[in-house]
Amino acid sequence: MLNQFKRKIWSQKTCVLNAIKGHHLSTKAKESGFGFKESVHILDNNYAVDDWTNITPKVVSLIGRNLYLKKGNPLYLLSEAIRHYFKDYDFFVFADPVVDLKSNFDSLLIPKDHVSRQKSDTYYVNKDYVLRSHTSAHQNHCLHKKSTAFVCIADVYRRDEIDRRHHSVFHQCEAFRLYHNNSPQLISRGINHVFESHKLVRTDSKQENHCQEVVDIIESEMKTTIEAFVRNLLWEDIPMRWVSAYFPFTHPSWELEIYHNNDWIEILGSGIVEHKLLQNAGINDNIGWALGIGLERLAMIRYQIPDIRLFWTNDSGFLSQFESACHSDKIVYKPISSHPQLIFDISFWLPQQVFWCCNDFYDLVRNIGGDLIEQVKVIDEYTTKEGKKSHTYRIVYRSHERMLSKDEVNVVHKQIERYVTDEWKVAMR
Ligand code: DAH
Repeated sequence: MLNQFKRKIWSQKTCVLNAIKGHHLSTKAKESGFGFKESVHILDNNYAVDDWTNITPKVVSLIGRNLYLKKGNPLYLLSEAIRHYFKDYDFFVFADPVVDLKSNFDSLLIPKDHVSRQKSDTYYVNKDYVLRSHTSAHQNHCLHKKSTAFVCIADVYRRDEIDRRHHSVFHQCEAFRLYHNNSPQLISRGINHVFESHKLVRTDSKQENHCQEVVDIIESEMKTTIEAFVRNLLWEDIPMRWVSAYFPFTHPSWELEIYHNNDWIEILGSGIVEHKLLQNAGINDNIGWALGIGLERLAMIRYQIPDIRLFWTNDSGFLSQFESACHSDKIVYKPISSHPQLIFDISFWLPQQVFWCCNDFYDLVRNIGGDLIEQVKVIDEYTTKEGKKSHTYRIVYRSHERMLSKDEVNVVHKQIERYVTDEWKVAMR
């Protein structure tokens, strides 16, 4: 399972363990109650609550935050980098995370008794709807839009503990690409048929309908694309290895692992799309590959962010580090202090007939406030009819060592005010 560091819901081996754990979890959850009485409102819709409902007010409160669309969030920068890399692919956003069981499970050929369907692993809105547990839930929607190469990024939901590396809401990117008889990748190798006409046998390395030599080409196309993609996102020639895997919707399937901090870390799942899945979507003549990758884990490595919970913070000390960056900027996150910020604004009329440079003010503030200054920025500016100019600056104070008191910050703030009025002749508003 992607983005959840240790647990796997798809691989057969761990099913039993999860089933035992799941039983324990669901009993506990039932006892504690979920806080919704008759219906639950999510985005624009009301859903009746029933015995299957296990979403909580807490998880519902995170729906619609759309971190991957918010400038200033590293997940937005990463999403932009992904879109840039896959610029020839269609890009889809599905803002509503509520999907039916068909989308999340059935259309992906996930068996009825598969562990991922359990209440202990998935958030059920009610017996018919879940909060999508992966972006693969939208494969079918994109295929119905007649797309043959697409990328879809979305928030996904899985019941899990919350700690430095796990969160019940995280983000994934799905990429998908179809080929047909006339695709240049096949034609150029002298191949003009994708499917076996006789001896339909499924082996470890191919599905019954596919020709082995075609699968080999698509596998190599897919792996080359993905390796370059990951290298591009992580800016370095990071060691990688492909490991065989199992997913109900692809065969053969692989996971890609990268070597990071003395450990092999799994970062994505991929494979040759099950032909049955395509046929069910009315596509008979194509073969393709799909991949699903978790964004948080990648962003944590890319920007050296130590805790997954930081993506959810509104702390400007965190967000300001990513706010004005471009997706290709190599940003190294600087840890913010665990002590609270103190925010003071300062507004004044600029001196007339003097060229005013904001950077001079920033330097002055840092000069007086030293290490207590976390950020300074203009938050408002306007000019009156008479040509008088006003600026408002926000100064964020925070110490790495201790909790600051309002009084001590006030002393520094007053010093800044005094300096600009006495030396620079501004008039406080
Ligand atoms: N949906 C899988 C998960 O969340 C990831 C995945 C694996 C997506 C293989 C794919 C794929 O498209 O081909 O763990």
